[in-house]
Amino acid sequence: MEQYIIKGGNPLVGEVEIGGAKNAALAILATAIMTDETVTIENLPNVRDINVMLDAIKGIGGKVERVDVHTVKINGSMISDLLVDYEYIKKIRASYYLLGALLGKYKRAEVALPGGCDIGSRPIDLHLKGFRALGANVDIHHGLISATADGLKGTHIYLDKVSVGATINIMMAAAMAEGKTTIENAAKEPHVVDVANCLNSMGAKIRGAGTDVIRISGVERLHKTEYSIIPDQIEAGTFMFAAAATRGDITVKNVIPKHLDSITAKLLEIGCEVEELDDAVRVVASKPLHHTQVTTLPYPGFPTDMQPQMSVVLGISEGTSTVTESIFENRFKYVDELARMGASIKVESNIAIVTGISQYLGARVSAPDLRAGAALVIAGLAADGITIVDDIYYIERGYEDFHLKLKLLGAQVEKVSTEKEILKFKLKVS
Ligand code: EPZ
Repeated sequence: MEQYIIKGGNPLVGEVEIGGAKNAALAILATAIMTDETVTIENLPNVRDINVMLDAIKGIGGKVERVDVHTVKINGSMISDLLVDYEYIKKIRASYYLLGALLGKYKRAEVALPGGCDIGSRPIDLHLKGFRALGANVDIHHGLISATADGLKGTHIYLDKVSVGATINIMMAAAMAEGKTTIENAAKEPHVVDVANCLNSMGAKIRGAGTDVIRISGVERLHKTEYSIIPDQIEAGTFMFAAAATRGDITVKNVIPKHLDSITAKLLEIGCEVEELDDAVRVVASKPLHHTQVTTLPYPGFPTDMQPQMSVVLGISEGTSTVTESIFENRFKYVDELARMGASIKVESNIAIVTGISQYLGARVSAPDLRAGAALVIAGLAADGITIVDDIYYIERGYEDFHLKLKLLGAQVEKVSTEKEILKFKLKVS
């Protein structure tokens, strides 16, 4: 299995280009099959989850042409099979976006029921509630969700919980329903807006995305478009926190600073300097960092996908901090791994109490999930000594060329898979 091996201690300095937002791209790829014309999508991140979604689209008969590593052309006119196989859902839960897309266009779809995952049970009851409200018959048998409708009719839907996935999935189905749909208590994440903008560029009529009330007037047909994915706010935030942890100076380029407001606010609170430019943000951590309190919330609150990275930085900041995870029920699994590097963190229910230490010590750790894996790499970059991170395929699900981008910032990191390569790295850095 491949691993990252890191010799910590170098402040990360320089510029890093941020790629397209994985969580916008996964949904936008699904919208592309809602027309029989060709949709071109640019600025796709070249990460595993995206490639699995493209395979799922091919798996139901969609045509996928890879123009270059970050651009695809998709044509859904040849789709014949409206069943999305379990093998795709098992690999990426977001394959369930094909349910909303297929139901919207064909009024029929079958998708394997996604299981829980590394960070919680993650039910999809709100998605199904929305489809039923639009008039679909939704049954679950033998692990398969089947949704059928004579026709979808616009309606008023109130989401009991703010859910990114449910907001997007219902928005897709409603885009081709008859009449008007209102989604109340909708998620406001930038990637929800990106999906709405892409659908509107295909002829949909969606207003209010980015607020908690989205209004959709259904249309009969969608048409071709060329669409570029927004920059990934979580990739950007991850590098911003790497600057803080290594006391470095990093400029993240090709970002929308507004999307990073809550991340910037926390970095300022703990003592970093943050400079906002038109499409870049610079983070300098020259002074000792200190404690703060943070609670993860739906956008525009502090993102749950930045929670592990925040804890890693607070773990080497002066004083005692609290990190409250209000979105998922099991997102502190990395704490045990971080303890192997000397962290002093106590988790009680959904709150982590973080007592800052002076420095992490390098150790062998294992990535429990995508964002926690990236956070453990940040800890290794800040640590004294050598850190080996196992199970890095989690990290490569959502970060393109992660270790190469870190190397360009001065990190001593390699991707290895044999003891011989580990020895060679240790000799090189000793
Ligand atoms: C999306 O997951 C992201 N994934 C997650 O990013 C992200 O953490 C999450 O949004 C929150 O921002 C993708 O976009 C592919 P939710 P999603 O529905 O849509 C509960 C990453 O690292 N809920 O907003 O599944 C749910 O259990 C991943 O890139 C229901 O109860 O998240 C959770 O507690 C990890 N019923 C809360 O809502 C439902 O039907 C928010 O989940 C749906 C959700």
